[in-house]
Amino acid sequence: KLKLGVLISGRGSNLQALIDACAAPDFPAEIALVLSNKADALGLERASGAGIATAVVSHRDHAGDKAAFEAAMDATLRDAGVELICLAGFMRLLSPWFVGRWQDRLINIHPSLLPSFKGLDTHQRALTTGVRFHGCTVHFVRPEMDEGPIIAQAAVPVLPGDDAARLGQRVLDAEHKLYPHAVRLIAEGRARIDGDLVRIEGPAPELAAML
Ligand code: GAR
Repeated sequence: KLKLGVLISGRGSNLQALIDACAAPDFPAEIALVLSNKADALGLERASGAGIATAVVSHRDHAGDKAAFEAAMDATLRDAGVELICLAGFMRLLSPWFVGRWQDRLINIHPSLLPSFKGLDTHQRALTTGVRFHGCTVHFVRPEMDEGPIIAQAAVPVLPGDDAARLGQRVLDAEHKLYPHAVRLIAEGRARIDGDLVRIEGPAPELAAML
C-alpha cells in the first residue's frame, strides 16, 4: 500500500475522510503519519483515535527560519517512510525547495474549481462573483500557490439563498469524496503526469458513482 503523510493545520475533516477510506481493506493506500504545524489541531486527535502516528513540527519553534521548519518536516516525513504527501487544510505556503524535494509526490485539496479562486475565502468570493457552480480540486503541488496539474475536481451548484457557510458545507461534503478518489487514482498508478496535465488511465466508474 502507498504510504501517505497527511499534513494538517486544524479541524482535519479531510483527514477523517482519508482515515475512513483507508479503513477499507481494498483501499490501496494507508496513512503512515499525520503531521501538524499546530499542536492543538483537532485533526491530531482524530489520528490518535484511529491509532495513527502523529507529529507536530511547529512553525513557531522555527520562527523566521522557514528552511529549518521545512527541513524538520521533511526529515519527519522521510523517517516515517512517507511516499505521498497529502495537504489537507495545511495553511502554510511551502517553499520551492520543499516542493522540489517532493516533486510529483505532493498533492493538495483546494476549495474551489481551480484555476478560479486561488487563495483564501473562496466560498464568499464565489458568491460575490455570481458563479453558478463552485467546487473543489485535488492537484499536484507546484511552487506557485494553488497551481499544478489537476488530478480530480467535483462541482456543486450555487443555490439561491446560499451564504458562505452553506455553500462551504456543500463543497466540503464533495471534498470528502473527492480526496480519497484522487488518492486511489495515484496509488493505483492511474494518474500519470504529462507536462502540465494529469492523464487518467482506465475507466473511473467510482467517479460517476460519486456525483
Ligand atoms: C478544506 O476546505 C480545504 O479544502 C481547505 O481548508 C479546509 C480544511 O478543512 N484548504 C485550503 O484552503 C488550502 N489553502 P479540514 O481541516 O476540515 O480538512
